[in-house]
Amino acid sequence: MTGNNGSGKTTLLRLLVGLLKPESGTIKIFNKTLTRDKQKLWEIRKSIGFLFQNPDDQLFAPTIEEDIGFGARNLKLDEEEVKERVNWALKAVDLLEFKEYSPLNLSWGQRKRAALAGLLVMKPKLLILDEPFANLDFKSIYNHLKILEQLRKDNDITIIFTTHNLFFVEHWANNKMIFLDNGTIVFDGTTKEGLNNSNVNELLGSYDDILLLIKKRHI
Ligand SMILES: Nc1ncnc2c1ncn2[C@@H]1O[C@H](COP(=O)(O)OP(=O)(O)OP(=O)(O)O)[C@@H](O)[C@H]1O
Ligand SMILES: [Mg+2]
Repeated sequence: MTGNNGSGKTTLLRLLVGLLKPESGTIKIFNKTLTRDKQKLWEIRKSIGFLFQNPDDQLFAPTIEEDIGFGARNLKLDEEEVKERVNWALKAVDLLEFKEYSPLNLSWGQRKRAALAGLLVMKPKLLILDEPFANLDFKSIYNHLKILEQLRKDNDITIIFTTHNLFFVEHWANNKMIFLDNGTIVFDGTTKEGLNNSNVNELLGSYDDILLLIKKRHI
């Protein structure tokens, strides 16, 4: 899912996981309609991992280790299994040495990685990731992708993600692309068609436009 700042990507994802209530229409996920009933919502939510755009909306425990274990403990897994999953996830996101740190004492990128680890321990069937690669260095992006690809291979999960970066749309999105503008879906089709859609390209702008502006300074 892509679109410019303020186009409605995060809002749509929040609707999908039941964090926002639609003013009209219904949302179906795993063929079940999202309701406001807390118990029923939890039944659906426990198979979904939702990565917030801002990790500070996600992390709240005193230590990274506790934070990452929170979701797994909510699933009522035995403590042995929780510890095993937490260690695996900490290792996967390369934060083992920071496990006793408070989220407050980690960098933004490290917090984003910790937030991802918190989803992994729940072994979700559907991952909904809001800007999973924004603000991360290349090595962290590489690590994130490696983990996500492993998950996809082992557990046959589905991933829905938002990004401004067409690199990920072009090379990582399997097939389907949705483009939002001003709260409306203006393109819904294959990635290939989307990337060649003139309306989409005009709305998005490009590095070429930016480069042209920079070059003008040197004329
Ligand atoms: N509950 C809501 N009801 C209606 N409009 C909302 C609601 N929450 C946010 N908005 C508005 O929707 C617009 C889209 O915001 P949103 O955060 O979804 O954009 P975004 O595409 O994720 O942008 P960014 O790329 O900056 O993350 C904003 O103008 C915001 O003020
Ligand atoms: Mg957003």
